[in-house]
Amino acid sequence: MKKIKILAIVGSLRKDSYNRQLALAAKEILGDRADFSILEYDDVPLMNEDIEFPAPEAVKRVREEVKAADGIWFFTPEYNHFFSGVLKNLIDWLSRPISKEEPQVLAGKPATISGASLGMTGTSIAQDHLVTLISFLNMDVMNVPRVAVPYVSQQTDGEGKLKLKGESLSFLEQQANAFVEFVKKRMHN
Ligand SMILES: Cc1cc2nc3c(=O)[nH]c(=O)nc-3n(C[C@H](O)[C@H](O)[C@H](O)COP(=O)(O)O)c2cc1C
Repeated sequence: MKKIKILAIVGSLRKDSYNRQLALAAKEILGDRADFSILEYDDVPLMNEDIEFPAPEAVKRVREEVKAADGIWFFTPEYNHFFSGVLKNLIDWLSRPISKEEPQVLAGKPATISGASLGMTGTSIAQDHLVTLISFLNMDVMNVPRVAVPYVSQQTDGEGKLKLKGESLSFLEQQANAFVEFVKKRMHN
């Protein structure tokens, strides 16, 4: 059977982003059960309808990557109890029909969300906003389980390297297992 393809979309462009590191932890947990890659999108311009057609090259590339994925796993930071502006900008581009014949690429895609933050919310408020947005765009959202890592700096080696402990690690494993099954079910239907 074909290996499932999971595309991670990390809502932080920061080089040492905890959310990027969380995505890499998920990749390790998934091992050879999935082809897992992180979408690079720091070259996607700010949404501006004046440049929408023809689509900028970076936009074409991210659309193709999303189209090719069997499931999308969002790793969101929390900025002021919301998800980040760069993530909203990316999703705004992805939300637009490619042409009169080709619809937007997010509809129907299996999706799940995790996140890590320095504060006590662990991104759960940002995640709720993100669920609202991606549900509006008709993604097929797996709401349970979802992982939110609070006080993430307490789960590092002291130099910014993520070292997930106890419950956080086991919750991420549970989410990875559940998402693999969720995606596989959709592929069989
Ligand atoms: C503009 C801004 C707003 C933030 N707001 C929150 C917040 O509402 N809740 C929270 O827990 N952390 C907040 N933080 C701190 C982030 O959790 C922290 O910067 C985190 O490292 C960002 O994710 P990253 O490591 O993946 O880049 C905020 C950070 C920034 C830059």
